[in-house]
Amino acid sequence: MRFELTEEQRLFREMVREFAANEVAPLAKRVDEEGIFPQETVKKMGELGLMGVAIPTEYGGAGSDNVCYAIAMEEIARACASTSVVMSVNNSLVADALYKFGSEAQKQRYLTPLAGGKLLGCFALSEPGAGSDASAQQTMVSREGDVFVLNGTKNFITNALEADLALVFATVDRGLRAKGVCAVLVEKGTPGFTISKVEKKLGLHGTSCCQVVFENCRVPAENLLGEIGQGFKIAMMTLDAGRIGIAAQAVGIAQAALDISLRYAKERVAFDKPIASFQAIQWMIADMAVQIEAARLLTYRAAWLKDKGLRHTKESAMAKLFASETANRAATKALQVHGGYGYLYDFPAQRLFRDARITEIYEGTSEIQRLVIAHQLLN
Ligand code: CAA
Repeated sequence: MRFELTEEQRLFREMVREFAANEVAPLAKRVDEEGIFPQETVKKMGELGLMGVAIPTEYGGAGSDNVCYAIAMEEIARACASTSVVMSVNNSLVADALYKFGSEAQKQRYLTPLAGGKLLGCFALSEPGAGSDASAQQTMVSREGDVFVLNGTKNFITNALEADLALVFATVDRGLRAKGVCAVLVEKGTPGFTISKVEKKLGLHGTSCCQVVFENCRVPAENLLGEIGQGFKIAMMTLDAGRIGIAAQAVGIAQAALDISLRYAKERVAFDKPIASFQAIQWMIADMAVQIEAARLLTYRAAWLKDKGLRHTKESAMAKLFASETANRAATKALQVHGGYGYLYDFPAQRLFRDARITEIYEGTSEIQRLVIAHQLLN
C-alpha cells in the first residue's frame, strides 16, 4: 500500500493550489456577499481542464484520474465553496454521466464542450415530492415520433440559471417507480423549458439553485441518455461519482476552517498569551486535523476505486457522510475559535459555517448515505 500521491497527482495539486490561491480565494468574499456567479473563474477553470478533470483529452477533458479530481475539488473548495460546486456538478453529475452512458454522437455534441468548459451542465433529478425518494419521479416523459415530450417540475437544481445543458430525469409511468425513469438531455432555450424560481439560500451564494418547469418541452429522441427505463440506475451510478466530489468539497471547506483557526489562534491574544497556547483551543485544532485526514483518506479511496473501475457505492457514501459531517464540525469549531469575531461578516468563519451545511444535504442527505452504506453491508 502506498500513501503518497503520484508525481502527476502532486504536480496537479500544486497547479490547482496556486490557481485557487491567486484566482479563486481573492474573490470568495465578494462572490458570497454579492451573490455573484464566478463566470470568469469558471472560464479559466475550463482552460485549465478543471471542468472535466477525469474525462479523456479526446473528449475535451484533462485526461487525469479521479484522485486528481478529488484533489482539485478540495483545493477549489478550500478557496471558495460556491466555485467548487459549479465544478462538481459539471464534472461528476453531467460530464461523467455522458462519458459513461452517452452515445458517440452525444459525446461529440455535448461532452467535449462541457469537459472543456465551453458549456455548463446541471443535473435535474430532485422534485418537490422526490428528494430523498428519488424514484418517486412525477415529471412525465412520453415519446411522440422522433421527439420526447417532458412535463413536470424540478427543484433544487444547482447551476440551472447559468447552465447550457440539463440532464433531466423523468418517468414514462409513475407506477413503475425506478423502472420507469429515463434520462434526457435538454438544451437551454428549448421551448417549454423555463426557470420558474431562483431560491434564496443559507450558503453557496455564488451559485444558483432553481426550480425549473417543463411544459410540453420537446427534445429530439436522440437526446435520450442510455435506454428507456435505465434512468434511475444512471442517476444512482452518477451520484456514486458525484458523492466523491462533494466529499472532496467538504474536505476543502474543513481544511479552510482549520487554516483560519491556526492563523487566528496564533495571532489572537487573551489573558496575555496567544490563544493557541491554551489547551481548549489546541484540542479543537487537533480534533479538526484528525477528522480532516480521515475524511481525505476516505475520499481518495473512493476516487481510487473509481479509477480502478471497481464498484464504489459504499465507499463514496462513506466518504461523503464522514467528510460532510467533518466539514460541519470543523466550521463550527473554527467559528468558536474566533469567538465573537467568528460571527461577523468581516471574518470568513461564518461563510464556511453556512457553506458547509449543504454538504450534509445535497447529493443525498447524511441519513440517505447511512441507508446506502447499510444496504450495501446487508445485501
Ligand atoms: N448503482 C447501480 N444501481 C443502483 C444503485 C447504484 N448506486 N443504487 C440503486 N441501484 C439500482 C438497484 O440495484 C435497483 O435495481 P433492480 O431494480 O435491478 O434491483 C434499482 O436501482 C432501484 O434501487 P432501490 O430499490 O435501492 O431504490 P430506492 O427507490 O429504494 O432508492 C435511494 C434508493 C438510495 C434512497 C435513492 O433514492 C437515493 O439515492 N436517494 C437520494 C437521492 C439523491 O442523492 N439526490 C440528490 C439530488 S442531486 C443533487 O443534490 C445535486 C446538487 O444539488 C449539487
